[in-house]
Amino acid sequence: MKFFIDTANLAQIKEANELGILDGVTTNPSLMAKEGIKGEENIVNHYKTICELVDGDISAEVLSTDFAGIVEEGKKLAAIHPNIVVKVPMIKDGVKAIKWFTDNGIRTNCTLVFSAGQAILAAKAGAAYVSPFIGRIDDSGWEGTELIAQISNIFSIQGFKTEILAASIRNPNHIIKCAELGADVCTCPLDSILGLLKHPLTDIGLAKFLEDAKKM
Ligand code: E4P
Repeated sequence: MKFFIDTANLAQIKEANELGILDGVTTNPSLMAKEGIKGEENIVNHYKTICELVDGDISAEVLSTDFAGIVEEGKKLAAIHPNIVVKVPMIKDGVKAIKWFTDNGIRTNCTLVFSAGQAILAAKAGAAYVSPFIGRIDDSGWEGTELIAQISNIFSIQGFKTEILAASIRNPNHIIKCAELGADVCTCPLDSILGLLKHPLTDIGLAKFLEDAKKM
């Protein structure tokens, strides 16, 4: 399973990258706004900087919601760097645009996916990634990881090449469940990635080893 970090924060991207386990980055308009990135030039420069920091797929989201606008914006984003993956929302014009991008050699990440039917449409249109938002499903009182299992089963039966990118990760256990259920990628906040490191028995064991090492 690949690890992406889900942020536009450069310090966090650097920290995750330095761990040596990072395969890519996802951003969205909310994450970009949180970092105060405004205006076309600054947005493009921010994506360029992320692409220079991380050698892997970098998702950059379109803001348009009509076919012509999505295609125009996506072409500009894709021109920033070969590793840019154009993030397109799961709407009717989004599906049409994903098919256009597929036919024109531009890779896409279909975002805001909350059902298996939406994932099938994205895969049929040739999306490189489909992003089910498991945390937001949990927030609504359903079980987000069940969607990962369902999509994984369908893609395997149907032989779809689209990768399942588990998004809206809230905690380390989400990452473990997604790995277990067949997600190809997890995009996670830094604290969820670092949370995987933690176990009290590791801390107790290390303290004892270091104490005993003084007697060596
Ligand atoms: C990633 O591609 C998504 O934009 C992101 O994981 C959404 O996460 P959130 O539900 O925590 O906002």
